[in-house]
Order: sequence, then C-alpha cells, then structure tokens
Amino acid sequence: MNKITAIILAAGMGTRMKSELVKVLHPVAGIPMLLYPLKAAQEIGCSRIVIVVGHQKDKVEEAVKNENVLIAYQEETLGSGHAVMAAKKCFEDFEGDVLILCGDVPLINSRTLETFINKHQIRDCAVSVLSIVIDNPFGYGRIVRDVKGCFTGIIEEKDATDEQRKISEINTGIYCCKASFLFEALKNVKTDNKQGEYYLPDIVSIAVGSEQKVQAIETEDSLEVKGVNDRVDLSEVEKEMRKRINLFHMKEGVTIIDPLSTIIDAEVKIGRDTVVYPNNTIKGKSSIGSGSIIEPNSVITGSVIGNHVHIKPSCVIQEASVSDHAAVGPFAHLRPQANVGEDARVGNYVEIKKSTIGKGSKVSHLTYIGDSIVGEGVNVGAGTITCNYDGKNKHQTIIEDGVFIGSNTALVAPVKIGKNALIGAGSTITKDVPGKALGVSRVRQVNYNNYFKAASKKDSEK
Ligand code: UD1
Ligand code: MG
Repeated sequence: MNKITAIILAAGMGTRMKSELVKVLHPVAGIPMLLYPLKAAQEIGCSRIVIVVGHQKDKVEEAVKNENVLIAYQEETLGSGHAVMAAKKCFEDFEGDVLILCGDVPLINSRTLETFINKHQIRDCAVSVLSIVIDNPFGYGRIVRDVKGCFTGIIEEKDATDEQRKISEINTGIYCCKASFLFEALKNVKTDNKQGEYYLPDIVSIAVGSEQKVQAIETEDSLEVKGVNDRVDLSEVEKEMRKRINLFHMKEGVTIIDPLSTIIDAEVKIGRDTVVYPNNTIKGKSSIGSGSIIEPNSVITGSVIGNHVHIKPSCVIQEASVSDHAAVGPFAHLRPQANVGEDARVGNYVEIKKSTIGKGSKVSHLTYIGDSIVGEGVNVGAGTITCNYDGKNKHQTIIEDGVFIGSNTALVAPVKIGKNALIGAGSTITKDVPGKALGVSRVRQVNYNNYFKAASKKDSEK
C-alpha cells in the first residue's frame, strides 16, 4: 500500500437521531462511534487523519483530544462535498491518496479498507467508491452504470428516477481519491439537486466527464458498511459490536457462559481463564485479571479486578478495585475509591466508599464503610456502620491491623481503633480506642428476677 491519508466526516447534525447529542458521539459499546472509523484509519497506517467537525464541534474535538489527528472545521453543514472541502488546507503539501470515511459507519474493518485501497492503487484511479449490493437500498445513493456496466456516477435517493431507485448496488460513503483530483473536482460540485447540498458523490461523474479512471469496488458484508442514521440503526450496530467484543474475549481464553446476555464495553480487558456468567455488564475502562469468576447479574464500571477474584451474584462495582484472591458479594456495593485488598472478603449487603480494606480482612454482612482505612486481618462484625458524615463534612475512620469489631457497632468519625483492639458488640464508639484495648460503650444489662411472677400477682389483685 502506498502513501495514504484519511478524512473522517463528522460534521453532520444527525437530525434523524432526534438527540441533543451530535450523532458521531453516540456511544457504541461504551465509546463514541466516531472512534471506530478512526481506529480503522490508524490500523491501516494513515500518515495523516483529518476529522471534519461542525455541529457541536467542541464536544467532538474533546472526544478525540488524545488522538493524533488534525481537525478541520466546516462552518455550515452544506453537504458532504462541502465538508471534504473544509479539510483541503490540511492537504496542501500532500501528494498521494486520501481515504474518506464517515464518522457514522462504526463497523468498518481495517482489512476491508486495506483491500479497497490496494485495488484503488493498483488500477491507479482518480476515485474509487466502496459499494455493496443490498436487498433494501432505500435511502442510499445508487451506483449508476452504463450499458457496458461501466461506473458513471452516483444518484441520491431523492434525485433518482423510479428506474434508478431499483438499482440495488449502493454507495457505502467510503471513497479513496487522489488528493490532487479530489480538491480540484470539489470546486466543480454544484448544489443543483433536491437537497440543495454539495454532494461528495458528484466527484464520480466529474471524473468520468474529464476521462479519468473511476471504479466502484464491491464489498460483501452489509453490516460492516452500515451507516447509523437513527436509533434503530444504532441498536443494530451496538448488537454487532458487542458480538464482536465477546467473540474477541472468548478467542483470547475467557469463558463467557451466555454471550447474548453479557455486555462488555470496547475498552474492557479480561485475562485468561476468567469465567463470566450470564447477565453481567462490564463497562468503561474496567479490567479483570485471569482466573476470576464473575457470577451472574453484576454491573462493573471503570474498575480494576485482580486475578482469582470471586465476584458473587448481583454486585454493583464502580470505579473501585478488588485485589487478587478477594471475594465480593453477593449483593455488595463498591462505590468510587473502594479498594478491597488481597484475600479480603466483602459479603452481602455491604457498601464501601472511598475506603481501603486491608489484606485478609473480612467485612461480611450488612455494613457501611465510608472514608476509612481498614488494616490487615481485621474482622468487621455484622451491622457495623462508620458514621462518616456530620451533616456538613466527611470524617475518617482508621481501623488498624488485627482489630475485631463486634456486631452492630457505630464508629463515629473521626475515630481511630488501635492495633489488635476489640470493640464490644453494640457499641457506639466516639473516642479513639488504644491498641490491644477493649472498647465498649453500651448500657449495662439489668435482669429483673421473678419479673413475670410479680406482674401476675398484681393482675389478680385488680
Ligand atoms: C451519504 C451519501 C450516500 C451514501 C450514504 C451512505 C451524500 C450526498 N450521500 O448519504 O450516497 O449512500 O452516505 O451511508 O454524501 N456530513 C458532514 N457535513 C455535511 C453533511 C454531511 O460532515 O454538511 C457528514 C455526516 O456527518 C456523515 C457523512 O457526511 O458522516 C454523510 O452524511 P449523511 O447526512 O449521513 O448522508 P447520507 O444521507 O447518509
Ligand atoms: Mg449517513
């Protein structure tokens, strides 16, 4: 493959999405759909990638700020031809081919693009168009051929005659052009069509008119070139992307018991021999180590799960971390900055926020731990609450190594429990407890002997 650059069109409004958000930023498997054609362009080694932005340009720029791309600004959305023209200044010093992709075609594969570009370059065409034959061509631009079968132009649905609408070979919206030809041809594109727009596909008839070589190169996978124009398209693309992601993980050695009910975002990483049970949603930049078990019905978002971790059913884990060999759940809630240490146990109906649970510690039942540091080998009894909020501010609880907290304890922060201390069940602890001490704060039990006998005597006297 010779020198190649790319333009990705992302300035359109996406009216048919009926959304506050510009179309190319709608997520597919958790990331903006624009990032997929961008990734494909990067994979084939484009030396320069220009993204044409317009509608909600700041948001689109923000979404690609970490990528090595140039941004061109289309002031008004006057059509796809006008959009490509906006990128002209980025190619003034360039001689070679430009691949044109649409930001709303996320399933396109880099291998398909490579084959397409190779065919374009071998035949030394001014412009090549990637086409496909589909059952329902409604809405697409049609590939028009003359009696000899030579490609002569593209006609849009709205401008087509009834006869032309019967053509089932359509323009996928992916083009490869000689840069020198492209920007000259665009100068001659007019707006004399039903939509009053500068149509990019018109460069084909312009090339034919000046006797330059053109070709429509057919591809076969209709999903790959599917454009997202409305929410129905979005759901189809989402479904296919998730299928591809699950397939990728399974091929890499992850067991996914029921791929159809398993939702894994594009940026998730999972190690070998991890087993993901049905109905799990793993989102954002989560990573899961190897040999872990994710039982059914959890939502894991932006979290780091180690090796040989056991996530029992129905947990919510968000921006948290769980170290190797730890177990969490069932029904646990790890909120942002909850860090569960190696070999630690977090049991049912436990909520942890902005806290560290040390190695081998157990927080097994019905507990809230917030803004706390819990050391190693600690046992937190059932029903323990760290009272971290005084109505205005959050305060810290420190529980040092080897502490045993009896059940139903309230730890009123700020408070510190020293190493190897013991807290009596049912205590409300408001003062620091020194290491090795027993801290207990509860009303002493009183037993009234023969209480029932005395009471029944009183009743009989009435
Ligand atoms: C376009 C093609 C059609 C093709 C179809 C494939 C034109 C005129 N028609 O139609 O032949 O079959 O794609 O999906 O191009 N854009 C801008 N600025 C604009 C207008 C559009 O950047 O002023 C961008 C859009 O963001 C999008 C692309 O160009 O990425 C195509 O625009 P869209 O409105 O989706 O065109 P279609 O009607 O799908
Ligand atoms: Mg489109």
